[in-house]
Amino acid sequence: MAIKCPIIFYGTTTFGSSHVPALQDPTFASQFLDTVRSTGISQIDTAARYPPDNHGGSERMLGAIHASDKGFTINTKVLFAGQSSDGTLSKEAVRRSVASSLKRLNIDRIGILYAHCPDNATPLEEQAEALSEQQLLGHCAQYGVSNFPVNMLEHFLDICIERGYPLPSVYQGQYNLICRGLEKELIPLLRKHNMSFNAYSPLGGGFLTGNLTTGNAAGTRLGSAYGAHFTIMYDHPKFHEAIRGLLKVVEPLGIKPTEAALRWIAYHSVLNEADGIILGASKPDQLLANMEDIRKGPLPQVVLDEIMEIGRQIDEMGGGDLEIKPSKLPPN
Ligand SMILES: NC(=O)c1ccc[n+]([C@@H]2O[C@H](COP(=O)([O-])OP(=O)(O)OC[C@H]3O[C@@H](n4cnc5c(N)ncnc54)[C@H](OP(=O)(O)O)[C@@H]3O)[C@@H](O)[C@H]2O)c1
Repeated sequence: MAIKCPIIFYGTTTFGSSHVPALQDPTFASQFLDTVRSTGISQIDTAARYPPDNHGGSERMLGAIHASDKGFTINTKVLFAGQSSDGTLSKEAVRRSVASSLKRLNIDRIGILYAHCPDNATPLEEQAEALSEQQLLGHCAQYGVSNFPVNMLEHFLDICIERGYPLPSVYQGQYNLICRGLEKELIPLLRKHNMSFNAYSPLGGGFLTGNLTTGNAAGTRLGSAYGAHFTIMYDHPKFHEAIRGLLKVVEPLGIKPTEAALRWIAYHSVLNEADGIILGASKPDQLLANMEDIRKGPLPQVVLDEIMEIGRQIDEMGGGDLEIKPSKLPPN
């Protein structure tokens, strides 16, 4: 019997980035996507902001290499360009952003269109109208929100219900074996409104490789300016302690920490089959290894016990502040 697992997405935040020079080459990027497709993945996650050092570059690359003709559904996000997302969800800004994304991607319709981050300047009523308008116009099959605080999402949903707008059907947020705060309030709210949850940074942007903890981050994203916000977010004694605890249990079993993290999120977390896991990989070999690891299925109980203990300890310290906040991102 096949093991059930959430939908796997591939995130193209590094496409067109100077952080991964190979992914500035359309031939290599096209071959990479062929590899992704060969694993069965048919959903791409991108954003008008990606890559952070070349806004629009990921969408331009996906358009140039005809990603949708390879059988991918392309999901993207409304542009926010600087360190503030204020004003990015006005009606005009959303219309402009979607028109530019469709053009760059060379497609007529986006899969899921997300609000990338909260906009604290535009009235929420206008944001709800702006996003649902794009679905009603057929520019996206569904729309969703990312990184919204729970109370903002609640208010947003109330507005949609009151005004008869289509409701957002999906939330995108950071979720992994260290970052689990959203299990308490956000997930129950999503379930109540039949919204699915797409988890980004299942490896904590690379933290769950263990490389930062063991002093081997040089040459990886976490050792560069590109990944600085993840390094700041995760460089906490309790999180390093969690990695050391995990390594102690998984290494004798021949299980990599990335494998433990992916098998946990796929089979033991709060996610179900209608939810998603957005894999990040800057190299085809990483993606192939991650998919192979996920296919191994549920984890041994001793690893689950350790992950449960990690969850308990992080919960005790308040869960840490792992929300992506525009003001904490690098300037470009
Ligand atoms: N909505 C949002 O605000 C938001 C925020 C963040 C991400 N996202 C989306 O989620 C996607 C995934 O996020 P993420 O990139 O943070 O995911 P992630 O899986 O947590 O981290 C990916 C990084 O981990 C390292 N890695 C992955 N597989 C590995 C392996 N097998 N061995 C060793 N290292 C490995 C790579 O680092 P190196 O590059 O150093 O090799 C890779 O860049 C993004 O592409 C984007 O689409 C959305």
